Amino acid sequence: MVIQSNKNDYIPQSLIFNGDFRDLLKIDCLADENSYIDRVITITDPPYNQKYHYQTYEDSLNQEDYVELLAEIPRPCVIIHYPEETINLLPKAFKTHCDDVITWVYNGNTFKNTRLISFWGCKPILNKVKQPYKNQNDKRIKQLIENGSKGARSYDWLNINQVKNVSNEKTSHPCQIPEELIEKIILMTCKDGDLIFDPFAGSGTTLKVAQDLGFHSIGSEMDKTYFDIIKSRLRFTTELNPNNPIDPDSSKVNLSNFFYSRGYSL
Ligand SMILES: C[S@@+](CC[C@H](N)C(=O)[O-])C[C@H]1O[C@@H](n2cnc3c(N)ncnc32)[C@H](O)[C@@H]1O
Repeated sequence: MVIQSNKNDYIPQSLIFNGDFRDLLKIDCLADENSYIDRVITITDPPYNQKYHYQTYEDSLNQEDYVELLAEIPRPCVIIHYPEETINLLPKAFKTHCDDVITWVYNGNTFKNTRLISFWGCKPILNKVKQPYKNQNDKRIKQLIENGSKGARSYDWLNINQVKNVSNEKTSHPCQIPEELIEKIILMTCKDGDLIFDPFAGSGTTLKVAQDLGFHSIGSEMDKTYFDIIKSRLRFTTELNPNNPIDPDSSKVNLSNFFYSRGYSL
């Protein structure tokens, strides 16, 4: 992944903020002029609103307030759903319909072993992520492989194990998304020059994978313990301190204006 570095290199590779993402959207933090960013794309797994035991965040808004919270997620965005019913709330929050839905499937003992992934203002290009051909003895498949084909295009369902306690990537965050899932979402959805935003960063999976793939990213997490996990997972980070903007001398724009100026609604 090549980042256009001949333009303004001002925006850090991974910008992280310990706080509410709605405050992040109010802070002066990004240089706009000559920025190499083509598009900001949100990839996130919002809190479930199921009285889930997060460290700080109380996961129990009334439905109206929850819809209001979701409405603040900048678009274009990719949402990893839990529970499935949030697919019915997002059209109310975003006041539009979604552009595509794929499914994450995993082996498990629970009643539901799938999660929906919805795309708003963007679409996954399944052909950008290959999977091995099923019947490699088929004459036509052999020919395709001989001609350099790297495999078949992905299905619209992704079979990826959940993060288990014994997984190498496991942190103490209670609902960590597998890196492989985020990697596939990014590869299917993002293009060079995109800046990836995760407002509900949790343990920082989106930011870590974005960094590994060479994308610039911004993440916010309100809980300090989880925020420290993010810092430990990223190779390099710039921490955003609202009282101490990154570069007081450069021309900055408000991040929400940054989104607006590109036609992304908040
Ligand atoms: C479902 S978890 C995200 C897990 C993450 N995808 C991962 O792989 O680790 C949602 C996270 O959002 C955080 N959170 C909730 N409301 C927030 C807000 N308004 N701003 C920032 N973080 C918030 C919670 O503390 C929680 O860690």
